[in-house]
Amino acid sequence: MKETLRRLVETFGPSGHEQRVRALILRELAGSVDDVRTDALGNLIALKRGDGTGRRIMLAAHMDEIGVMVAYIDTKGFVRVHPIGGVSPLLEVGGRVLFDNGTVGVISYEKLTGGEQVPPMEKLFVDVGATSRDTCPVGVGDAACFLQPMVEAGGHWTAKAMDDRVGCAILIETARALLRTPHDCYFVFSTQEEVGTRGATTAAYGIAPEVGLAVDVTLSGDTPEPAVRMAVSLDAGPAIKVKDGGMLATAWVKEWMIDTAQAEGIPFQLEVLPGGTTDARAIQTTREGIPSGCLSIPCRYVHSPSETVSATDVAHAVKLLVAMLSRPLPR
Ligand code: CO
Ligand code: ZN
Repeated sequence: MKETLRRLVETFGPSGHEQRVRALILRELAGSVDDVRTDALGNLIALKRGDGTGRRIMLAAHMDEIGVMVAYIDTKGFVRVHPIGGVSPLLEVGGRVLFDNGTVGVISYEKLTGGEQVPPMEKLFVDVGATSRDTCPVGVGDAACFLQPMVEAGGHWTAKAMDDRVGCAILIETARALLRTPHDCYFVFSTQEEVGTRGATTAAYGIAPEVGLAVDVTLSGDTPEPAVRMAVSLDAGPAIKVKDGGMLATAWVKEWMIDTAQAEGIPFQLEVLPGGTTDARAIQTTREGIPSGCLSIPCRYVHSPSETVSATDVAHAVKLLVAMLSRPLPR
């Protein structure tokens, strides 16, 4: 599974540019699902059929990652960018970005004149080695993601795009490990989550599931003086979402997750995240409303080039999902 995750996180895929990730997932899923299709927004929808006695369950993990898009190139060939998703200039400066055509750029910033501690996005520029606008290897509208290899330290995995390729890896591994299920399980690898859960919105409408589950990262509160105080730590098990900035998990779906974890002896935590949301919100609020929950993977340094998760939390997440999908729903 680690090598699957490595391939996923090291692939280029800012929001709206998920094609390379989609092609990779298609290869990784071969032989594990009964049917695969891609919809108009680029969502990859893989179905594993049940035995006819179960329900229609949608699981979602997003393929896209945050990034930047070229907005303007100056006469000397320096590139100005706009954010794709929740990009913080603080976490960009000094980093490197990769464009779809293989061009690599370094992010730096102009002199700060307004007494700011952190450069605003307008002060950032990308140096792609060009000396003029005309010879610049990238153009307006081209997207880039961070450039960082995955590394391992003390049972933790660090990479760019762990949000949410770790969710994609967990869904792939769940599809592989789930040998028999009563349910029609729709594994949805969604697009454009980072710009407003857009892919999951149309996928959920199209599938019309009876239950929805997202798998995504959440923050952790276990680093020195964390910006957000929360009762979630790495290595303490996957987190069952109770609330985030965009949804309240449906009570019985949350209980289903908790009861299964307890029955299987799988460690878990409860997650109350003050801001942000996931594809679960999009599923929950589609059509006439779909009971939905979210399994979260605790992650340090979210939306930085070094998003960090625990290998054991990931393994426990797969175990929990397989157990949940192997049995009839509690209601
Ligand atoms: Co994100
Ligand atoms: Zn995410």
